[in-house]
Amino acid sequence: MILLAAGRGSRFGSEVPKVYLPCAGVPVLLRSARRLCQVADPRGGDAELIVVVGPADRATHLRPLEPELRALGCRAIVDGGDTRQQSMARGLAAADADTRLVLVHDAARPLFPVAAARQALAEAERVGAALLAVPATDTLKQVADDHLVTRTLDRRPVWYAQTPQVVRADLLRAALAAATAAGHDATDDVALVEWHGRGRVAVVPGSTQNLKVTRPEDLTLAQALLAQAADDQARDDHP
Ligand code: CTP
Ligand code: MG
Repeated sequence: MILLAAGRGSRFGSEVPKVYLPCAGVPVLLRSARRLCQVADPRGGDAELIVVVGPADRATHLRPLEPELRALGCRAIVDGGDTRQQSMARGLAAADADTRLVLVHDAARPLFPVAAARQALAEAERVGAALLAVPATDTLKQVADDHLVTRTLDRRPVWYAQTPQVVRADLLRAALAAATAAGHDATDDVALVEWHGRGRVAVVPGSTQNLKVTRPEDLTLAQALLAQAADDQARDDHP
């Protein structure tokens, strides 16, 4: 499992990079790491956790989180690159050579559904690659450069991609090598497989709550969703 946390968070615009900001008291990166360990426990030996970080964040923001990451079973913390794909490639390079399935997750998505991630592992084993995604809900407009609508698109085949994404290790390594050679940079992991054209990619229903912390309002929303989940839990425990 590769947890990507090496982005700059430029759209978020805070001094402390967004993945290190507290979300209901726990840094976003740690929330994502804890949840990943519910998908597969690195301490059990069946999985490994590799965290990819920005080199500039190591001495400052990462240091206080390191003890818990190690306690969770994190095996390596590696430096990321300039693009998400480069960061993923560095995480992959640190993975065990025997790894069969590679799960990649954006640390900026602390609320991903664990059961769906497990389903993505099973689907990737079956077809080669899988990702969490949700169907588009808004009506889609195709718009020209002059801001005039050219047409309304069919929404039904459109899904919004999320992470976790899972790819069979051999497929991911081959696609990445080809992309690196061709200078191709994909915005997500399964897009590499699509571009390479050697494997199929399945969609697993994710959750609209699996938001990516991109702008400050997303962090506010994530905190509200966590508070709601805690309320629901308390009601279930003490009806
Ligand atoms: N990421 C990464 N390495 C990069 C770019 C992104 O590890 N070079 C990670 C981010 O830390 C994040 C995930 O990929 O967890 C998704 O990226 P995004 O939401 O775009 O985060 P940032 O790139 O940090 O934000 P921005 O694009 O606003 O700068
Ligand atoms: Mg980015």
